[in-house]
Amino acid sequence: MSIKNICCIGAGYVGGPTMAVIAKNNPHINITIVDINADRIAAWNDSDLSKLPIFEPGLSEIVKATRNKNLFFSTDINTAIDKSEMIFISVNTPTKTYGKGKGMAADLKYIELCARNIAEIAKTDKIVVEKSTLPVRTAEAIKSILDNSGSDVKFDILSNPEFLAEGTAIEDLLNPDRVLIGGESDYAIESLASIYASWVPEDKILRTNVWSSELSKLTANAFLAQRISSINSISEICEHTEANVNEVAKAIGMDSRIGSKFLKASVGFGGSCFQKDILNLVYIAKSYNLNEVADYWEQVIIMNDHQKRRFSDRLIKTLYNTVSGKKISMLGWSFKKDTNDTRESAAIYVADHLLSEQAKISVYDPKVSSRKIQTDLNYLGTRTEEENKEGVECVDSPYDALVDAHAIAIMTEWDEFKTYDWETIYTKMKKPAFIFDGRNLLDKSEMIKIGFEYYSIGQ
Ligand code: NAD
Ligand code: UDX
Repeated sequence: MSIKNICCIGAGYVGGPTMAVIAKNNPHINITIVDINADRIAAWNDSDLSKLPIFEPGLSEIVKATRNKNLFFSTDINTAIDKSEMIFISVNTPTKTYGKGKGMAADLKYIELCARNIAEIAKTDKIVVEKSTLPVRTAEAIKSILDNSGSDVKFDILSNPEFLAEGTAIEDLLNPDRVLIGGESDYAIESLASIYASWVPEDKILRTNVWSSELSKLTANAFLAQRISSINSISEICEHTEANVNEVAKAIGMDSRIGSKFLKASVGFGGSCFQKDILNLVYIAKSYNLNEVADYWEQVIIMNDHQKRRFSDRLIKTLYNTVSGKKISMLGWSFKKDTNDTRESAAIYVADHLLSEQAKISVYDPKVSSRKIQTDLNYLGTRTEEENKEGVECVDSPYDALVDAHAIAIMTEWDEFKTYDWETIYTKMKKPAFIFDGRNLLDKSEMIKIGFEYYSIGQ
């Protein structure tokens, strides 16, 4: 059967860009993205494209070309489910914050709500596609809910995890390394494969069983994050030995068996996926009593927490063991450049630690609002909202953030930071003027020549 109508539940960082790219390449398919968050849907429908809820290079152009032609955003979930032959579930699967598995397992309540919603509404056969990242064997639970709906509707379940990275989502979707489809029914698998085949070469569309597909997503994120923790662990050795982590990364990366990507030492990885998905993997391993496996992967998170903490420890120690009352300017708040997403950003944890040491923080980020910065800190619950407001000011111009600062902490690798007039910035800061470059973004010798006391990662 060729698919004419698609519903995607979840209009987030994955649902929005993914469906926009599918719509662009399949003008004959009508796609409706639905969400319970009415504000988010309104933002997707805003005629001012700068107000889309997600910032991704290239996204607004695709939305402009497809919106209200074959791509629609709606809060009417039931109608979209009813009229679609294929339904993607692309809702959030955060780490559980309560009950069994708290702090480790994936919270599947949103997934289950979607399955129950589909079971209740569907009157015709549906292909249900897991787009969210899910623990291996979740398809079993979804199938059990769908097959007990009391109707004779036939449901096929596919796993089709998403590998896009934020900041490069459109590029990743247009030129994926692979598209992974796990399933049992050839008919369902080929229905989905034919949608991707309109722009993805056939040899990049990989078919597996459902469980391999589900597990591959967690595994891919675990391997990627492991590389960062590995190079970050080496960065600490570099700081004690005068080895340079950039040189080490280049030297090992030229070994084709290792490869050069994802070896950039940093203040620690952030983002909504890596930590959550590794914790989930650890939880799954523990649930099968595979304790050595669980310990092995947990170390990736332990190393990442250590990297964030030692960045702020080093800053405090270098500023003569106290930051109390001192102005620390943070450049960047998002978890990486070219996104407005701040989930699990290292900046949040570094700021929280510095605030506990009574620093005054000034933040500039080109895409993150001051409201979001305050919300991120309030969410940690370390201090009251008033105290966070008092301790952190958010500014619209980077130069405002830097006036009279005792130190600058570079938290995100935004390109614009490289283009600043660092000589002028130097004159505006308290002396000695310290830079803590959590992204190894600036040229060390240039900064030292200007007069800065420059500290980077692993150099
Ligand atoms: P998100 O929080 O940006 O979006 C999820 C959306 O789902 C929200 O807008 C929420 O309101 C909506 N939602 C939740 N329950 C709903 C329900 N019952 N009915 C309708 N809407 C509902 O999340 P995201 O970043 O898009 O991630 C979605 C999934 O994709 C997660 O499982 C994540 O692990 C995975 N993933 C994310 C990325 C990424 O870069 N963000 C990449 C690959 C995979
Ligand atoms: C990740 C995966 O890359 C993607 O395939 C998956 O679908 C979702 O999770 P994302 O979290 O959006 O994507 O961004 P990514 O580029 O992987 O960066 C994650 C974090 O690692 C960022 O904080 C980034 O700054 C950091 N990072 C990345 C490093 O510190 N060093 C590196 O070499 C690469």
